[in-house]
Amino acid sequence: MKFKKKILGIGAGYVGGPSMVMIASKCPDYRVTVVDVNPERIAAWNSDRLPVYEPGLDAIVKKTRGRNLFFSTDVEAQIQDNDIIFVCVNTPTKTFGAGAGMAADLQYWEKTARQILENAKSPKIVIEKSTLPIKTAQAMERILSSGNKKITFDVLSNPEFMAEGTAVSDLENPDRVLIGSRETKSGLAARAQLVEIYTRWLPREKIITSNIWSAELSKLVANAFLAQRVSSINSISALCEKADADVSEVAHAVGTDSRIGSKFLKAGIGFGGSCFKKDILNLVYLCRFYGLPEVASYWESVVRINEYQQDRFIANILQSMFNTLAGKKICVLGFAFKADTGDTRESPAISITRKLLAERAEVVITDPQALANAAVDLAQEKGNIRYVEDPYEAARGCHALAVMTDWEEYRKLDYRKIYKSMVKPAFLFDGRNIVDRRKCFEIGFNVFSIGKPALTRY
Ligand code: NAD
Ligand code: UGA
Repeated sequence: MKFKKKILGIGAGYVGGPSMVMIASKCPDYRVTVVDVNPERIAAWNSDRLPVYEPGLDAIVKKTRGRNLFFSTDVEAQIQDNDIIFVCVNTPTKTFGAGAGMAADLQYWEKTARQILENAKSPKIVIEKSTLPIKTAQAMERILSSGNKKITFDVLSNPEFMAEGTAVSDLENPDRVLIGSRETKSGLAARAQLVEIYTRWLPREKIITSNIWSAELSKLVANAFLAQRVSSINSISALCEKADADVSEVAHAVGTDSRIGSKFLKAGIGFGGSCFKKDILNLVYLCRFYGLPEVASYWESVVRINEYQQDRFIANILQSMFNTLAGKKICVLGFAFKADTGDTRESPAISITRKLLAERAEVVITDPQALANAAVDLAQEKGNIRYVEDPYEAARGCHALAVMTDWEEYRKLDYRKIYKSMVKPAFLFDGRNIVDRRKCFEIGFNVFSIGKPALTRY
């Protein structure tokens, strides 16, 4: 079959995989190939067990794989063979040298830019889908124009706003798609090509076009605003606990103001995930770089409150359990950074588990999707850790439950049955405010929620 467009995604991760799958599904007359340097990841995309867990994704992959969707490790050949290239490689926080702990580590991204230059034999549209610092497109353009080749490269910014766990519905029906380009003749023509892809399934009004720097910056700002809302409500949860208010009631009362809105006001143990912290720190770094220390410290406080929230959670466990956890068994209910994903990157459960181990508690971890990742995250930890799939088995013989992930199934557990199998007095620390706290208190638990008065018997 002759395909109308040949599209390549470089980086078959949480973003590159699902976003390219969606294009293949919506545009059967386009050929979509996804490449990665990691052969295991590619093998998994070609198997029945995909490397990322996303509700609804398996069915779409089954429908499109081998038809107009392909996964490959041959990065170089695919660069040659495709015209539109989405760069979806990872851009983690730098761990070394200047900007360590703050700036984005652009080594994977730069390697990709050089690979594109070395292997291209025809004009390419190169699209930044990864989240990148402002002005990265300029650096990309510089690299791409550094060779002797007479090939034109148009660089666009098309940041991705999907969230994990809801990737399929977010990609299918996003609030908006953002496309930034140079406002030159060829930049606008490249932009039009990308707009054409998205209008296959989205109304034109949902596609925002802008200058390229605005697009790059908007992605960092969107994540910073979302994380800021979480930190704002978490900071208020601390006040609620002191003053006998209920943070859910406060969030509801505040969020019904249409100017404020109700989303992203759930108090909990703090935000995790691979992006919020990384992107805010990157924003902070950029503000410092551009000589704006006040703006930098404003945004940095969002991350500080997130850490404070986790410290408060563990301090509360320690204090409520008579100031010693040594030898006590704690069941960590959920390890993923949010429900409906197996991803554990920056999950608050990692730091909380480490702190529990530092107190010499024994930790039993359960999660429906994330146990394999949890074992990798904690591989270097000394101490007593067990991984148990069945939550009832995991809780048996424990002194406390600590809810870390808002899995729907944890709302519906038979807490009476769990209580019976635990050491008394039994404690329940609900880091996500998902259990029926009054019912659990009546069953016999001492219940500690976030931002609500504790329900205890002593
Ligand atoms: P990821 O680590 O899951 O995937 C990145 C992939 O790129 C890896 O499989 C890696 O092997 C591959 N890779 C690295 N260098 C390569 C190269 N030179 N050639 C081919 N493959 C290469 O990361 P992710 O979560 O998909 O995030 C990717 C980018 O998207 C980041 O910038 C992130 O900030 C952004 N983003 C992520 C999400 C999310 O929900 N995870 C949402 C929006 C934006
Ligand atoms: C987030 C953004 O929502 C996406 O738009 C963005 O594309 C993505 O980051 C990215 O750039 O990687 P994600 O991290 O997958 O998506 O998940 P979210 O739903 O945003 O949750 C992030 C964290 O905040 C989770 O730990 C979640 O439990 C927590 N959270 C979220 C709360 O504690 N309270 C809330 O009210 C909402």
